[in-house]
Amino acid sequence: MSAGTKRHRASGEPPLPPLDLAVRVGRTPGDPYEDYIAMGQSLRQVVLSILPSDWTFDGRRILDLGCGAGRTLRHFLDLADTAELWGCDIHGDSIDWVERHLSPPVRCFRSNVDSPLPVADGHFDLVWAMSVFTHIADRWADWVIEMHRVLAPGGLLIASYLGPGVYEATLGEPYDESRVGMLIQESWRPLDDGGPSVFHSEWWLRRHWGPAFEILEVRGPPVRSDGSSEVGHSFLLARRRDPTPTVDGLERIESGEERETAALQTNVRMLRRELGGIRPSAAARARVRLRRALLRSAVGAPALRLRRWMRRARVR
Ligand SMILES: C[S@@+](CC[C@H](N)C(=O)[O-])C[C@H]1O[C@@H](n2cnc3c(N)ncnc32)[C@H](O)[C@@H]1O
Repeated sequence: MSAGTKRHRASGEPPLPPLDLAVRVGRTPGDPYEDYIAMGQSLRQVVLSILPSDWTFDGRRILDLGCGAGRTLRHFLDLADTAELWGCDIHGDSIDWVERHLSPPVRCFRSNVDSPLPVADGHFDLVWAMSVFTHIADRWADWVIEMHRVLAPGGLLIASYLGPGVYEATLGEPYDESRVGMLIQESWRPLDDGGPSVFHSEWWLRRHWGPAFEILEVRGPPVRSDGSSEVGHSFLLARRRDPTPTVDGLERIESGEERETAALQTNVRMLRRELGGIRPSAAARARVRLRRALLRSAVGAPALRLRRWMRRARVR
């Protein structure tokens, strides 16, 4: 039993996952478990406060897409008598842990990097995806359409996104809504190491998620009473729209929309900046040093000259 699990058994609260499962969903400068709990509580607050005031949990089926080890779900167990709580994630160890420690009442399954989810059409009334679309770079339109498919008519989606709240702090330049669309950073980072970071602007979300969802509300990061913010993400609340959207419909760039061009220019500039930051690997640097040392040595220099001469002779 992990330290976190032991600590919470005593208090009657749901157990905490092992440290590696807690920190993989977000590293923070403070105590990892305190921050894990505080973040989960903040996310619960976001969900409760962004839902329409007449929405109730009674008899609803709810999915936490990309639930990790249940950082958010663990704060909803008090609603499990009235609502069906589901969680899924592509990370096997996290789902195994949720299955062993939060289920029942939580129902969970391991999902794939690619859609679909193993559930019937219209299975859920509410899906939330906290810090998930912030890592989906390539098949984002498939996943938006999958959210549409698994939601019942009129179903609601709450998604966090990386917007103005974190743009400047992360990318080191002022946020300009008219010059940002969907911006991918560190696209090479594997999902098991956190994956790429994907930033979005509000206009872009309204345009490109719009065929699938009516965006009812957009919120900046929640702010504490002292003005600081626990959660840097922004949030949207969206309602499933008919008819069923297509990938083309979501991805299409409308001619005459100047923000699309400006956003693409920002993407190219950021890509060049990232490429400029890539240094040759340690192995490549070692090879260059070895070659230089060889060239300077008494045996190396004639040997390299001989090799060059032989190569030229072969070419002729
Ligand atoms: C930053 S963590 C956030 C976890 C959780 N939502 C929370 O707020 O505590 C992102 C999670 O999404 C999961 N994930 C990424 N892409 C996914 C996908 N396509 N389907 C399901 N889970 C995904 C990751 O494995 C990871 O556990």
